[in-house]
Amino acid sequence: MTQSREPIGVIGTGYVGLVTAAGFAALGSEVFCVDVDEAKIAQLQRGEVPIYEPGLAELIASNGERLHFATTLDDAVAHSRLLFVSVGTPPTYSGDADLSAVHDVVDAMPRSGDHVLVMKSTVPCGTGRSIKRVLAEQGNGALAYVSCPEFLKEGSAIEDFMRPDRVVIGDDGDPAGDAVAALYEPLEAPVLRTDVASAEMIKLAANAFLATKISFINEIANVCEETGANVLDVAEGVGLDARIGPKFLQAGVGYGGSCFTKDVSALKLLAANSGYHFQLLGAVIEVNELQKRRVVAKLQRELGALAGKRIAVLGLAFKPNTDDMRGASSLVLAARLEAEGALVRAYDPVATDEARKIMPELDYATSALDVVTEADAVVLITEWPEFLSLSWQAVAEAMHGTLVIDGRNALDPEVVRAAGLTYQGIGRG
Ligand code: UDX
Repeated sequence: MTQSREPIGVIGTGYVGLVTAAGFAALGSEVFCVDVDEAKIAQLQRGEVPIYEPGLAELIASNGERLHFATTLDDAVAHSRLLFVSVGTPPTYSGDADLSAVHDVVDAMPRSGDHVLVMKSTVPCGTGRSIKRVLAEQGNGALAYVSCPEFLKEGSAIEDFMRPDRVVIGDDGDPAGDAVAALYEPLEAPVLRTDVASAEMIKLAANAFLATKISFINEIANVCEETGANVLDVAEGVGLDARIGPKFLQAGVGYGGSCFTKDVSALKLLAANSGYHFQLLGAVIEVNELQKRRVVAKLQRELGALAGKRIAVLGLAFKPNTDDMRGASSLVLAARLEAEGALVRAYDPVATDEARKIMPELDYATSALDVVTEADAVVLITEWPEFLSLSWQAVAEAMHGTLVIDGRNALDPEVVRAAGLTYQGIGRG
């Protein structure tokens, strides 16, 4: 199998790039990874994995002989014709996608009619067309272009790579798309072939729809709080409708992560740039921002003014099983609480180092029991498994106050209450 699999290049070794590289190496391809970050490449060459993603280090280690890491494109270009691009496209100060890293890669592409630029980075719809134009201007119009958006979720990225709901391949009707499709064949996933613009839009629309689902259920949760209904039952009842489905209906303190926050805003601005006002997405974003802040009002309602109050934050990462802090609801909460004069302590089993880079002044605890000690209130922001199995009796004994706000509806209210604590979820009646 190893002999017959096509070798590939992967440019950009972030979450998407490393998972793609390790995944295709596991399927038997030689994979030539490239990143401009010399320290990161040196780490990878030593066998160290710079990000926390369950199963990734093991997959990289077990396929080490097929994974090659370099800071230049030379080996990737020499040994592979499919060059996957998975560099970051963070938002600019205006909220549009910053495509400078993508353009650096485009400028470095070989002058070649044999190679294919396979875009995995999430880019605004229309990027493929403008890249093709740039390539033509550079005399490189024969280089083929394929859009192959990535749908993996952090925390379950390996599983998502191996068992995707679908693989989307957008091409210009040339054989380049077939070569990418052949690479994915062993996964036996549904493959959707489209033009480049549609593939780009599928990615943005999928993320925007998922974010809309979350903001929708969060608003339902807020109304549940006013009416005494329980959003967990409501979501279950709504999700049993096959047209709606049960996933992404968990109310909480808002969505975070690099993709939803970035892509929803990028799609809204993409529409605006072409003169269309995407009203719905404006509401999705606003609901999410307000949702992150509602916890502060809940704390104030129970504790009064927060100045001098000790608030323990359980979990900092934007979701469990990752150290990623991008767009994390904890960032907004910690900043808002500190602005109110609260004494904030936080604990995360994995993301503390990443959090420290963004919030160096925050007081970090070394364990869950450490963080709740003497706290007037505890707020659960990330539903790490270790928090779900905490001894709430021990928490109650360590705390000064009794208030527990479960920002992810992840705890059993009865268990928390049985320890003499006051439980508040999000929309749980
Ligand atoms: C998302 C998309 O799911 C994935 O397809 C895309 O490739 C990248 O963006 P990711 O950001 O890794 O993946 O995480 P995801 O599991 O989708 O969660 C995003 C955020 O939404 C998290 O903060 C999570 O806590 C929140 N969320 C998710 C909810 O608040 N409620 C839900 O029901 C689901």
